Amino acid sequence: MSKKLLITGSSGLIGSEVCRYFGRELGYEIHGVDNNQRAVFFGPQGDTRWNQQRLLSEFPGYVHHELDIRDRGGVLGLVAEISPEAIVHAAAQPSHDLAAAIPFDDFDTNAVGTLNFLEAARRSCPEAPFVHMSTNKVYGDRPNTIAMRELELRWDYADQAYEHGISEEFSIDQSKHSLFGASKVAADVMVQEYGRYFGMPTCCLRGGCLTGPNHSGVELHGFLSYLVKCNLEEREYRMFGYKGKQVRDNIHSLDVACFMASFIAAPRVAEVYNLGGGKDNSCSILEAFQMAEGITGKKQLYSYVEKNRIGDHICYYSDLRKMKAHYSDWTITQTLPDTICQIVEAWRLRLKS
Ligand SMILES: NC(=O)c1ccc[n+]([C@@H]2O[C@H](COP(=O)([O-])OP(=O)(O)OC[C@H]3O[C@@H](n4cnc5c(N)ncnc54)[C@H](O)[C@@H]3O)[C@@H](O)[C@H]2O)c1
Repeated sequence: MSKKLLITGSSGLIGSEVCRYFGRELGYEIHGVDNNQRAVFFGPQGDTRWNQQRLLSEFPGYVHHELDIRDRGGVLGLVAEISPEAIVHAAAQPSHDLAAAIPFDDFDTNAVGTLNFLEAARRSCPEAPFVHMSTNKVYGDRPNTIAMRELELRWDYADQAYEHGISEEFSIDQSKHSLFGASKVAADVMVQEYGRYFGMPTCCLRGGCLTGPNHSGVELHGFLSYLVKCNLEEREYRMFGYKGKQVRDNIHSLDVACFMASFIAAPRVAEVYNLGGGKDNSCSILEAFQMAEGITGKKQLYSYVEKNRIGDHICYYSDLRKMKAHYSDWTITQTLPDTICQIVEAWRLRLKS
């Protein structure tokens, strides 16, 4: 009998990659939970049904559960019924800008939805590794207090202590998070607590910029995917503040799925990892323009808004050393240029259909 994996947010960027990787490469029986809430959050551009349909057509054994993670009774019942060997929790309201407009939906989804799955797992399958997608926004805007130096196209850390990026030791306290960052802090701490208090094998993956060809990128979430889409459609990309030199570290969703597989194969209790592309896969918005232009041959149109997004990081890249020390079989396999090429190809196909 195959092992069962339960994945929330299965039609999204990370969830769909995890479905494919665990289903195809590792032979798991896959149970996905998604209700296309992304289309409610972001409108038709955020619709993820296309990805759900692809999973259903690619995997005859794929089981889709149309469930809202806020539905506590539904979640408790589903986890009891499936009793999975592992849980990956990737459903969320993912935008920090949007959260202020929908604070109840944001908190109910990100914090309460996570608690629903944790408690359901404790009751039905406490031995199952529980992987939670957290975010680097749990650090709030504190990374902006690090001394920076301005280069021609990007910001970088001036303080040698951050030469390798931001580690898990960085404080999450007393900074401005946005309501999204705060609801994700609540979830992150709760996931750690179910590990420490109940001894469950939980981990929080504090994502940098997670990306790849399966993202339904929109202006408020999914920066590289959206930027490439603007480039291909010859539409203006709006840069907000910091001269467009703000730096993000980008990790392909496949490398995220591979790390989850390493953790699930050898789980630890109450762990926290900063999961991004690291310094090598980091870029500023201006640098991303150049890369996209190099691949598509199209000039990137853009406009500049002086005011930065609230809580936006000036420079953020993850220190990957803890991940690599705990799971030496894991490394980044997808370079940033390769990833952008894949995103370009995926949008070309999707925009045609
Ligand atoms: N993409 C990034 O750059 C990034 C960065 C850091 C952290 N993260 C985190 O990683 C996780 C996955 O991100 P993603 O980029 O795959 O997001 P995504 O929006 O592509 O996927 C999330 C999926 O969850 C579903 N969903 C949302 N609310 C739901 C609900 N109430 N019930 C059922 N399904 C619901 C959506 O319909 C969507 O398909 C999220 O927790 C996000 O906060 C993402």
